[in-house]
Amino acid sequence: MRKRVFSGIKPSGELTLGNYLGALRRWVAMQDAYENYFCIVDLHAITEPQDPQELRRRTRDLVALYLAAGLDTAKSVIFVQSHVAAHSELAWLLNCFTPMGWLERMTQYKDKVAKGSGERISAGLFDYPALMAADILLYQAHLVPVGDDQRQHVELTRDVAMRFNHRFGDTFVLPDVLIGEAGARIMSLTDPTQKMSKSDVDPNGTIALLDPPDLVRRKLMRAKTDSGTEATFDPARPGITNLLEIYQTLAGETAERVEAHFAGRGYGDVKREVADRVIAALEPLQEGHRRYVDDPAELDRQLQQGRDRAAAVAEPTLRDVQEKIGLR
Ligand code: TRP
Repeated sequence: MRKRVFSGIKPSGELTLGNYLGALRRWVAMQDAYENYFCIVDLHAITEPQDPQELRRRTRDLVALYLAAGLDTAKSVIFVQSHVAAHSELAWLLNCFTPMGWLERMTQYKDKVAKGSGERISAGLFDYPALMAADILLYQAHLVPVGDDQRQHVELTRDVAMRFNHRFGDTFVLPDVLIGEAGARIMSLTDPTQKMSKSDVDPNGTIALLDPPDLVRRKLMRAKTDSGTEATFDPARPGITNLLEIYQTLAGETAERVEAHFAGRGYGDVKREVADRVIAALEPLQEGHRRYVDDPAELDRQLQQGRDRAAAVAEPTLRDVQEKIGLR
């Protein structure tokens, strides 16, 4: 029996090269080995303010990008979280079995509270990990491929599952986190000490997967680098290192070979070649995305099918939980 994988991305900003290399491309590479559930987590997106029109568009864009990137519905169930009501329902139930103290310890929540103004933080943001636990546990997922920033949420999911199983008997599979290699961590182009993030307010720091080629080139040519000249991997020079890592990831080469390739050449050459590689990598994604935008009925059909397949797994888990706690 193949192990189950669950992961998701929030439709809360334009998907970036970082999301592609760190998540999507990895999911595509591993989908043959597992039974996969890949979700667009719109209910997580609304834990922070979203424009309704934009949310709707980004959700559909994300579905199209999942498919364009090579996720194959023969191997992976692709669906939108809010289309399967069991996510909201189980999140409420798990709420009632999750101690406040566990949620208060979540670093992502604490960081957001520290950055934002207290009153505007929604109860949903505090409760975000219970919904994420519901996502994972509904499908009895064994593995959750995410970035390191999500490790704590998966650990909390495991703790909630363990606590529930202990009290009510075996109900949930205990999930393990699956962290990608360090090389896939792409940094901002304007501040290479920060991760490239789709919520970055500075559009020049990120490369969106749907950025046209001339814009991709412009952003990369202006990427922040230090005043050095040697194109080598060096933690003290994060800007050039980030560009070399993008190159390395796309070329699928070793660091030594990348350094040898650029030996004796300047930063400008690196930027030009990184731009060529990125543009080439985005081309099929943008082409695939365009196909689904031009054929909304096909996208709807895919979504309906994804919803049905996801619900067929999620609903029995929800019913089991409802029975165990005395709701039916
Ligand atoms: N919190 C995750 C992130 O920001 C997104 C997410 C929501 C998720 N539910 C999930 C990831 C379930 C893995 C499994 O990246």
